[in-house]
Amino acid sequence: MAGKKELDVVEVMEILDKSENYRLLFTEYRSAIMEIETKLRVLDNELSIDRDKNPIETIHTRLKSPESILEKMRRKNYPLTIESMRTNLLDIAGVRVICDFIDDIYKLEQHLCSQNDITVIRRKDYIEEPKPNGYRSLHLVVSVPIFLTSGPKEIPVEVQFRTMAMDFWASLEHKLKYKKDISEATDAAARLKECADKAFALDREMMRIRSDIDEMESEKS
Ligand code: GTP
Ligand code: MG
Repeated sequence: MAGKKELDVVEVMEILDKSENYRLLFTEYRSAIMEIETKLRVLDNELSIDRDKNPIETIHTRLKSPESILEKMRRKNYPLTIESMRTNLLDIAGVRVICDFIDDIYKLEQHLCSQNDITVIRRKDYIEEPKPNGYRSLHLVVSVPIFLTSGPKEIPVEVQFRTMAMDFWASLEHKLKYKKDISEATDAAARLKECADKAFALDREMMRIRSDIDEMESEKS
């Protein structure tokens, strides 16, 4: 961001809206993250009884920083108010779920979304339809109620599901994206796409190996 003034947190807060209690605002999003994380951990525990293995490898959570919130609102030309932030930014609360196998992703999605306090606001399946650069993940935005002293409040949370192979690719691609001089000067984009497809082939083969092992086990018993 050469030449651009770095925004500090206080400045961003002031620009957004002076009247709102920011600590309460971020507490709401943090609480929604806790609700979703707990729901996923409960499902992970129950599903682990089935095959003695947890379907979830790791859960990462993050709250979008005020700087990123402002950067996105400017980039998308949204009015710089709290109201607009609440309605337009659906990824202030983020949960990333790293799974062992592709089918675990859809199983978790189904069990999470069928809970009666969960409303699906948006769904993008980049596993079925990967991005042109090869990016794969299942993205959901769900609304979950949090129970405040003033009563329940619906808060949106972005949930991204990926396998370890998809996460490995996305993490490295994210790092490489910022080395523009390298990617523009070489055939990096095409090779990255090839890596994404290889990672996906690996995911599918791992799933096939697992079903073969399961089949052998069930024949034994
Ligand atoms: P944003 O304005 O970026 O939020 O776009 P969007 O609302 O259309 O969301 P999208 O479904 O494209 O996904 C946004 C998030 O998914 C990003 O913040 C990343 O975490 C992840 N993501 C999406 N595309 C890519 C990609 O090509 N590479 C990597 N590494 N991550 C990606
Ligand atoms: Mg987004």
